Amino acid sequence: MARPTLDYHVKDLALAPEGVMRIEWAAREMPVIGLIRQRFARERPLEGIRISACLHITTETANLALCLRDGGAQVALCASNPLSTQDDVAAALVQEYGIPVFAVRGEDNATYYRHIHQALAHGPQITLDDGADLVTTLHKERQELIAGVLGGTEETTTGVIRLRAMAREGALRYPIIAVNEAQTKHLFDNRYGTGQSTIDGITRATNILWAGKTVVVAGYGWCGRGVALRARGLGAKVIVTEVDPVRALEAAMDGYQVMPMAEAAAIGDIFITLTGDVNVIDRPHLEAMKDGAILANSGHFNVEINIPALEEMSEAKRRIRPSVDEYRLPDGRRLYLLGEGRLINLAAAEGHPASVMDMSFANQALSVEYLVRRREKLAPGVYDVPRELDEQVARLKLASMGIRIDELTEEQQRYLSSWEEGT
Ligand code: ADE
Repeated sequence: MARPTLDYHVKDLALAPEGVMRIEWAAREMPVIGLIRQRFARERPLEGIRISACLHITTETANLALCLRDGGAQVALCASNPLSTQDDVAAALVQEYGIPVFAVRGEDNATYYRHIHQALAHGPQITLDDGADLVTTLHKERQELIAGVLGGTEETTTGVIRLRAMAREGALRYPIIAVNEAQTKHLFDNRYGTGQSTIDGITRATNILWAGKTVVVAGYGWCGRGVALRARGLGAKVIVTEVDPVRALEAAMDGYQVMPMAEAAAIGDIFITLTGDVNVIDRPHLEAMKDGAILANSGHFNVEINIPALEEMSEAKRRIRPSVDEYRLPDGRRLYLLGEGRLINLAAAEGHPASVMDMSFANQALSVEYLVRRREKLAPGVYDVPRELDEQVARLKLASMGIRIDELTEEQQRYLSSWEEGT
């Protein structure tokens, strides 16, 4: 079904049939979103609501967009990273499903922000964001649109950190639900999703054997925990670097070596950053690395490895494989940067598997419904996903997996709410 009047920018509409099949394939592993989509189609809780969404344009995001559309929303999508767009999915959304998309894999920064502006031109009542680029652009450059916004959601750790900074400074002008903070999001998506998809991206880019390698994981948040766990599962020796003493202790007691990056730099075969901070691998670390060291980032932005320093230090650079740039230093050592330092799970693989995105995006869909159904608008600020919604997602996911659990008896409930009984 061609839609010539729709405003959009994708790579090639001819890719749509492939995108449709991949979107359907992902839907098999997204039963919770499927159930919500069926209910939304019956109840139409989002009738006429305009949504501007800045998300990675993947098969999983397509299933979220279809869920919101079936709830009655008018959705416009742009990418939340220049390198994460799946062009066939973008084409399918426009061509087959009539959803405007502004995203082309490999777009430059100017195009990336032009696409954000095009999604904002939709005049959103709800914003969906992954990393907070859409929300910050709206607050800095399209302030006249803010009065029409009911609220928004934010998908990821980095975005939540930025929004909290905005809220602290009094700059945030509408309520945003931090989907990342839901338990059914970060315990699964950040840990098992990032764990598996990061290893997947590095493997697809390099085809290395993990067994016996020394892997340095920078950051032991939920994402770092997942990557360390999966790297160890493949037989790697894992070193963790941290700045937080409690997390460092946890990593040590989880059985990893813990040391500063300055020491790990000379030992590691593969470095993976997942801190959300800048220059975690800095020039002195690069200078200390072994010939052949591989550098990858799985944090939201491409700032965790000091790439300008790497460029400056190198006397030659070539793309030796797709997603692998070889930098040659004056003393002959070679360092390999994967996916231009952008999140490697989406730059070189397909991002998190659908089964975990099912829960993250169920939280998104239910949070959007919550914002729309509430009679009074929430005050500006960053909010948690209501606990009932988080638990609803867990129950639906368990049911889809055929897992039943116990319920508290009346006696147990009474016991838990009393204080008189002791030893
Ligand atoms: N973030 C990480 N993996 C993703 C995916 N598969 N789809 C959308 N956003 C993601």
